[in-house]
Amino acid sequence: MATVLAIETSCDETAVAVVSDRQILSNIITSQIKIHAEFGGVVPEIAARNHLETINYAIAQAYQESGLTWHEIDGIAVTAAPGLIGSLMIGMTAAKTLSLIHQKPLIGVHHLEGHIFSAFLAEPSLEPPFLCLLVSGGHSSLILIKDYGQYQVLGRTRDDAAGEAFDKVARLLGLGYPGGPAIDQVAKQGNPKAFKFPQGHIPNFPYDSSFSGLKTSVLRQTEKFTEEIPVADIAASFQETVALALSTRAINCAVENDLGTIVVVGGVAANSALRSHLNHLAQIHNLHLVFPPLVLCTDNAAMIGCAGAMHLKRGEVSDLSLRSYARMDITESQSLYQAIH
Ligand code: KG4
Ligand code: ZN
Repeated sequence: MATVLAIETSCDETAVAVVSDRQILSNIITSQIKIHAEFGGVVPEIAARNHLETINYAIAQAYQESGLTWHEIDGIAVTAAPGLIGSLMIGMTAAKTLSLIHQKPLIGVHHLEGHIFSAFLAEPSLEPPFLCLLVSGGHSSLILIKDYGQYQVLGRTRDDAAGEAFDKVARLLGLGYPGGPAIDQVAKQGNPKAFKFPQGHIPNFPYDSSFSGLKTSVLRQTEKFTEEIPVADIAASFQETVALALSTRAINCAVENDLGTIVVVGGVAANSALRSHLNHLAQIHNLHLVFPPLVLCTDNAAMIGCAGAMHLKRGEVSDLSLRSYARMDITESQSLYQAIH
């Protein structure tokens, strides 16, 4: 068993958790959403400053709520990549400090590997191989989890990620930030078949997603109205298009690669239309779906701790020269470790 204190500051959540293998002992998440909402999106400089103001309190609270003493904590896990560099560096500095003071190994974790590991927290008996549909503000990816630490990206974002498309369309419909929950809500009053939008398929890359054309198509549609814009119908039709595109890509990918389980993570996993299409299609194809609870789908440190505990048990730790990286492919995540055995 490995117990780690984990820190996640890659974007606009200051998060600290204590995790023992696949069990959460504490999970503190301080969201900055309200601070960034007035700017219509995350402002990197403001995000970093807020992490700095909040991180020590979050660490103290996560430690206290875990009920453990430093003696019982085996390592310090931290998101090392990818993300907003200034924000990542605040978490990294805090993690290195704790590692030095308490003499605990430091474990850098790739943020997307963390998202994948939220599945193990939700379903502790889960084992690879499985497919992960990761749909967040920055990603719409289909990742094959071959084994622990072994990932193959089967489908990726070509331009706007799913969540980004939700945020941009919400902005042009005047629905505010973050756009996903706003569109999900408004769409309930709309007709999902009112408008036909492109699903963003890319020839010869059946699992990749390109949502920038869809966003432009929604913009053109709104421009056609000189009087009142039918916001609910446009929101519902847009949401239906994204939900259908993502669910058919994920199901086809699982079937064609002979995978029986799909795990759905990232903020967009909360979307009601996406969930309903996936449930429907999974039933038809006899696939097992895992939807981690929302608090684990969006950014959190428990998922980073779960991945960190796995690496620590395998003897994969980082040293104090570990850096933060704004960009890093998940297939390179093993470069964060130096085996200690
Ligand atoms: O995973 P996440 O919290 O942050 C990262 O991007 O890492 O995802 C945030 C994204 C935002 O773009 C937000 O609009 C979207 O998830 N989102 C949703 C819903 N809830 C959050 N998108 C569609 N439907 C929702 N219900
Ligand atoms: Zn994330």
